[in-house]
Amino acid sequence: MERRQFLSLMAAVAGTPLVARCARLATPSPPKVYRSESGSLAVALTASLGRVSLGGRSATLMTYNQQIPGPQLEVRPGDRVQIRFTNALDQPTNLHYHGLHLPPTGLADDPFRTVAPGETALYDFQIPDAHPSGFFWYHPHFHGLVAQQVFHGLAGTIIVRGDEVPGNVDHLPELQAAQEAVLVLQDFDLDRRGQVREPMPPFRMWGRQGDLITVNGQVQPRFNLPQGGLLRLRILNASASRVYQLQLADHPWWLAATDGRSLTAPVAQESVILAPGERADLLVPGDRDPGSYALLSLPYDRGIAAMAGSMMGHGSMMGRGTVDTEEPQTIATLDYGGTTASESGTSILVNLPTALGTVETLPEPSIVREFVFDHGIDPETHDPFLINGRAFGHHRVDTQVQVGTVEDWVLINKAGMDHPFHLHTNWFQVISRNGQPEPLRAWKDVVNLRPYETVRIRIPFRDFAGKTVYHCHILDHEDQGMMGIVEMV
Ligand code: C2O
Ligand code: CU
Ligand code: CU
Repeated sequence: MERRQFLSLMAAVAGTPLVARCARLATPSPPKVYRSESGSLAVALTASLGRVSLGGRSATLMTYNQQIPGPQLEVRPGDRVQIRFTNALDQPTNLHYHGLHLPPTGLADDPFRTVAPGETALYDFQIPDAHPSGFFWYHPHFHGLVAQQVFHGLAGTIIVRGDEVPGNVDHLPELQAAQEAVLVLQDFDLDRRGQVREPMPPFRMWGRQGDLITVNGQVQPRFNLPQGGLLRLRILNASASRVYQLQLADHPWWLAATDGRSLTAPVAQESVILAPGERADLLVPGDRDPGSYALLSLPYDRGIAAMAGSMMGHGSMMGRGTVDTEEPQTIATLDYGGTTASESGTSILVNLPTALGTVETLPEPSIVREFVFDHGIDPETHDPFLINGRAFGHHRVDTQVQVGTVEDWVLINKAGMDHPFHLHTNWFQVISRNGQPEPLRAWKDVVNLRPYETVRIRIPFRDFAGKTVYHCHILDHEDQGMMGIVEMV
């Protein structure tokens, strides 16, 4: 879509009364939710390609159960989860449970599994009893096709609710009384017929992105907040490559969780940057004047502007999705609906909680390893994105670690482009960036490496043995080699 058409589409959408002002307090068609009951969740998911409605138009996308985003799975610690997964695509795929602490083996969270076209496969696992509550997600992980499948829409959310587990935050009265809104951010590049465009070769290098930004499959949805109430926004970047810089215009918000895991206390934020795969919980107290507040996506340069300029000789040739073609845009709007918290059935006026969960201090590491992220040519596969000089090799274990130990990984970005690092199975804490101690103690499963940045993370390898992966979450980079295998023994 041309930018001009895009803008007129946005204007058309903005002029339509999407939500009646007096509507009940609810988010507009949130993802369908499947909740576990008496300790178990059994669902059927089907990945398929087909026509769906996206932001008021029709598009040919890949979906789980014909929904954009896919259904939301809600479980509790200790639950058994059984997913009958059917691949109705014409290409292989599989499922990965991003951020869940699960075995990387068997029928649980094995990223090396193949579910062939036409096949129905069972995923069967138990959420550990001590699993923290939080906000996670699932998406395909079949190496070589991940960017394409995610960019066609495949993604769904997982919420672990753990109010009985010590250290979890869902039991806090303020959070129990809060209104929760899950926001899944996806971007699309559609042609006139609603087909996803194949990216031009440079976009495969930079990471494909589109300028149609959707929130829960909608363009500029509105969210209501009762005056005096508290809104808990749980935002997921489910885009293949796009990095979002988000701001709530003229309204304060507080960061309460990073990558789904609670902080020790809310932290006031100006803007929040989410690289692909990252999540943020933000608390918004409805204590300002009634009105409408825009959730803005601000321009963000992940290092491709300079590269594009040098490759093409001129910045204006860069085309869609690069920073010089973008302006701040409203991706959702928050309305104070005019009702008060007590009228809407919330019995207390909700304050910000002063304290949240606990985030443990990790012991000193037993091993420090270095990982260098760079561009080049792998001698065997000829893939262009490398970690420690090598592109992904299916049969090569790059790193072996001991279960029960703590390691520091020093992640060195030698390239002029963002490379968001992600590790499966275990969470980590950021210790320092470019030698500066990280001020916020927090759990993460993705950390964005800015151009030429060095980030030191501390990882406790816990509970599960087996092989899994770490990789760049710009999914075109992962597909083109920026992934390694870690074996936990
Ligand atoms: Cu969100 Cu290896 O993935
Ligand atoms: Cu993951
Ligand atoms: Cu990358």
